[in-house]
Amino acid sequence: MSNSIEIKKKINKFNKIITVSGDKSLSIRWLLFSSLANGKSKAKNLLLSEDVIAALNALKTLGIKSRINKNECVVYGKGFDGYKYNKNLIIDAKNSGTLGRLILGLLIDTPYSIKLIGDKSLSNRDFKRIVDPLSKFGAKFKFNKIKNLPLSILGSQNLKPINYLENRGSAQCKSSVIFAGMRTNGTTIIKAKKSRNHTELLCKHLNLPIKIKVGKSYDLIKVKKVKKINKINYNIPSDISSAAFFIVLTALSNNSELVIKNVNINPTRIGIITILKMMGIKIKVKNEKIYKGEKIANIQIKSSKVIKPINCPPKLNSGAIDEFLIIFLVAAKADGISYFKNLEELNQKESPRLFWGAKILNEIGVKTITTKNSIKIFGNPDLVINKKIEIKSFLKDHRVFMTSVIAALTFGGNWLIHDKDSIKTSFPNFLQILNEIQKND
Ligand code: S3P
Repeated sequence: MSNSIEIKKKINKFNKIITVSGDKSLSIRWLLFSSLANGKSKAKNLLLSEDVIAALNALKTLGIKSRINKNECVVYGKGFDGYKYNKNLIIDAKNSGTLGRLILGLLIDTPYSIKLIGDKSLSNRDFKRIVDPLSKFGAKFKFNKIKNLPLSILGSQNLKPINYLENRGSAQCKSSVIFAGMRTNGTTIIKAKKSRNHTELLCKHLNLPIKIKVGKSYDLIKVKKVKKINKINYNIPSDISSAAFFIVLTALSNNSELVIKNVNINPTRIGIITILKMMGIKIKVKNEKIYKGEKIANIQIKSSKVIKPINCPPKLNSGAIDEFLIIFLVAAKADGISYFKNLEELNQKESPRLFWGAKILNEIGVKTITTKNSIKIFGNPDLVINKKIEIKSFLKDHRVFMTSVIAALTFGGNWLIHDKDSIKTSFPNFLQILNEIQKND
């Protein structure tokens, strides 16, 4: 079957209610916490994407069994010290930076060296950012010159707590150090630039010995050694990073309306909502509730005729870090020049996304000026595309594929978009949901 998709026509107007799949960050974190718990934990609506399956397989390598039955996943945790460390173990994190970086924190006391590998994209990503703090706890690493994958970790039985300054706004680094702190006697102290806080919320929900002082730009986190984790049953809410594609699809379509149900609107994740509201997009959050510390709601979006350009405040970057490619499409249709800055982290993702954002926009005839950490987008509300456009992202980035599909359906033109399979990493039913939206009732 072809791994490409052709789109030659804009989407017709629609008015639908949809649900997108489970949150990826929460799915992976729930699996890791459950693997450390005493007994059987169950989750409904776990995202069954390749990144999450990689996490299930990593846990299997460590002797933790799991079972998936329809919409329910069961993990048979063997307690906080229940991992079975054998010689010559290899963990394959595939495309997942979250799995690769978080699991290293949990392997901080492995008595045998464990090799961590990943796919081509992950093998190009920076692991020095996590090797450095974990080394300070006492773990030993073997890696290549630039400290990326493959690498090997050998844990220590004499771990020392660390003081760690997380300055990038990386939830993966923060969470990995929290996990390492949970395995270490004494108090690990983390000063972390604001980033998604699912790990902290799960720790709180599980009554683990963690103290958090929330600040304006940084949080102060103190973690002590954990003795026991209770089993944790969870109903994973929908992923705002998946909802984002349909939010923008609706905003840029004609006379359309969409409700996306049961989305995780954790305040550290809703950068896209804040940014789009600033750009004049009609978006409302309804039926808010709190579930195990996470905020959940329905999101309602309506097509927007007039879009304002934005000078995006960098404090919103971390909360929208996975959504910038799709946000750039909105800026392309704005009435003026938008500016996004301090975005060096965007080039640290599955592919260099600042480059890809500019590339997609340039292909459709929108002018951009990029530096290594910023982009200016010269929006054009009257943009018409009549040419053939072909997109092939060399590192098979799922978000490049999905952004291109949304661009094709909202800007028009004649598109050939490659690497359809890439959606399996984060959002396997993306095209299926798109079909449901397109179906005439
Ligand atoms: C994630 C954190 C972010 C995000 C990634 C998921 C997480 O990465 O881009 O998709 O689940 O912790 P960084 O920690 O590198 O910013």
